[in-house]
Amino acid sequence: MKTVTCTAPVNIAVIKYWGKRDTQLILPTNDSLSVTLSQDILHSKTTISAAKEYSGDRLWLNGKEEDITKNKRMHNCFRETRAIRKAVEDKAAAAGQPIELLSTYPVHVCSENNFPTAAGLASSASGLAALVFTLAKLFDLPSDMSELSRIARQGSGSACRSLFGGFVAWEMGKEADGSDSKAVQVAPETHWPELEALVCVVSDAKKGTSSTEGMQNTIQTSPLMAERLKVVPGRMEAMKKAILAKDFESFGELTMRDSNQFHAVCLDTFPPIFYLNDTSRGIMRLIHEYNRSSPDGKIKAAYTYDAGPNAVIYAPKQNMREIIQLIAHYFPGTDSDYYFKDTYGVLGGAALGENYLPAAHTSFEEVIPVHPVGSVSRLLHTKTHDGPRVLSEKDSLLNEQGLPK
Ligand code: DP6
Repeated sequence: MKTVTCTAPVNIAVIKYWGKRDTQLILPTNDSLSVTLSQDILHSKTTISAAKEYSGDRLWLNGKEEDITKNKRMHNCFRETRAIRKAVEDKAAAAGQPIELLSTYPVHVCSENNFPTAAGLASSASGLAALVFTLAKLFDLPSDMSELSRIARQGSGSACRSLFGGFVAWEMGKEADGSDSKAVQVAPETHWPELEALVCVVSDAKKGTSSTEGMQNTIQTSPLMAERLKVVPGRMEAMKKAILAKDFESFGELTMRDSNQFHAVCLDTFPPIFYLNDTSRGIMRLIHEYNRSSPDGKIKAAYTYDAGPNAVIYAPKQNMREIIQLIAHYFPGTDSDYYFKDTYGVLGGAALGENYLPAAHTSFEEVIPVHPVGSVSRLLHTKTHDGPRVLSEKDSLLNEQGLPK
């Protein structure tokens, strides 16, 4: 029996992936680019064990056993990683130095997220990245991360970007077999450590339209999508340049414009898809007011939204204290301990709302009302960080019998 446990991070795109040209292989209609967020705050954790004695593959997801045979996308990841392992085993045998035939053993997979699934918090990205990375470690695969990203992509498109830390591009590729559709690191997490993120959890509820279904409806019905596809290549180049130059002004504007365009093609889909709600739009307005109040006219924060109402606000470290206090003022939570844990100590010991909110910022109330308590349930302060991690044996989610602990 061999057991491996790993975690993989969430990534939040600043140039969005939306639309597939091949739904089986998961090949996208445009390049995309994301920022990998710290696993200390948000992650998927996966333990996989392989043993000759197991009667078949089994899967436990967030504490519940699921039918692994029904999960076609996971199955793709098993098939691909087992095929590479088998080639290594065959080669070793041919060289007269056989290795354990792990590719033929059934596996037990146990995985959990430390955040609510399907709430638009990129759970499929971290989950499938954790699965593929753990399988690669279990099978001692010789592959590099871009190579592995081609497998993770077949589990969930955005998962391919969670195999790297820092700033990550998913190159759409041209080949029909998907061989050149992979993730590459644009810059490591150490490149721009001042860039931080604030996840505003607007709703914990399961989202209405899944991204998988929504994006294909957009491709089939939205005339605006064709326009988007003309715009993205230029944006990708501008975004890479902004990241390499640590130019927040350009990074922020491109991020907000791309999020807005993504939600515009959602509205242009027929029937329309709504991911944003009144709270999401309130946060957008607040960020624009905040940027407008900037003394030098420079952008101080940028929002982005995936397939759900939660906002992710990117901003330079020095603005985070102000932003957290602003959001807490206009979108107050019910339970202050749950609402915000000051992991990075930005409030310097002060309570939320305490001795802060300059007059300039209370005047926003003419445009943005103070929202009902609880419209934002939680704020998670995080930053750009590393790719998947291998954990030690004591972190295993499976016991010695290969069952959930
Ligand atoms: C809005 O990767 O969840 O978050 O490939 O069908 O699994 P599938 O879709 P998924 O789509 C993510 C869409 C997005 C934008 C992004 O992350 O780039």
